[in-house]
Amino acid sequence: MKAVIFDLDGVITDTAEYHYLAWKHTAEQIGIEIDRSFNERLKGIDREQSLDTILIHGGAAGKYRDAEKQEIMRRKNQYYQQLIQNLTPHDLLPGIAGLFAGLKRENVSIALASSSRNAPAILERLGVMDEFQAVVDPALLARGKPDPEIFLTAAALLGVPPLECAAIEDAKAGIAAIKSAGMFAVGVGDESSMRGADLSVRSTNELTFELLKEGWQRCCCIREEK
Ligand code: BG6
Ligand code: MG
Repeated sequence: MKAVIFDLDGVITDTAEYHYLAWKHTAEQIGIEIDRSFNERLKGIDREQSLDTILIHGGAAGKYRDAEKQEIMRRKNQYYQQLIQNLTPHDLLPGIAGLFAGLKRENVSIALASSSRNAPAILERLGVMDEFQAVVDPALLARGKPDPEIFLTAAALLGVPPLECAAIEDAKAGIAAIKSAGMFAVGVGDESSMRGADLSVRSTNELTFELLKEGWQRCCCIREEK
């Protein structure tokens, strides 16, 4: 394991909750109700895909012109940015600072593969930008998660082969992307949504370098036995 690639929202900090609140508020304004269970489908996918998924759910696919959709997304992002403006280093999820320190100690490179265009601002507010040797710019990608492009780009920026990378995700689409990239997938969350992950934890406070290494070695043994 030469690199660990992190998702941001719901892995490094609890902004997945803020995305949910912002979409819920915005969807209500156009007469669409969403709940937490529906929200699982929005995790990991980009802003445009999220809006399309909500419109289909609300029976409003095709109802809005492009300019109107842009305006809905602008409002969602404005509300989201209000929610994240007071983030501080205290908002790192439990275990993440320790994991960064463990990876640094073991000379394992760290990269970010987040679909969020707000990611750099969030990393700055959390005070962890310097932990990352590479941050993928999602605006430069052709395809979002579950396509593997974002994870393969992170590996390429680090100069590490995908087979030497582990990646951590809280979203179904993210786990699928990691597996298609040929990487070791670590899921954070309840087991049903993390199906397909090579290693699952309920909470980030379980994540340590030692746990990742143990899971990685177990997975490599299985690969070799096949
Ligand atoms: C992902 C989140 O990280 O980023 C999604 O899981 C979100 O919920 C997506 O929609 C895009 O974020 P942003 O900040 O560019 O709207
Ligand atoms: Mg996430």
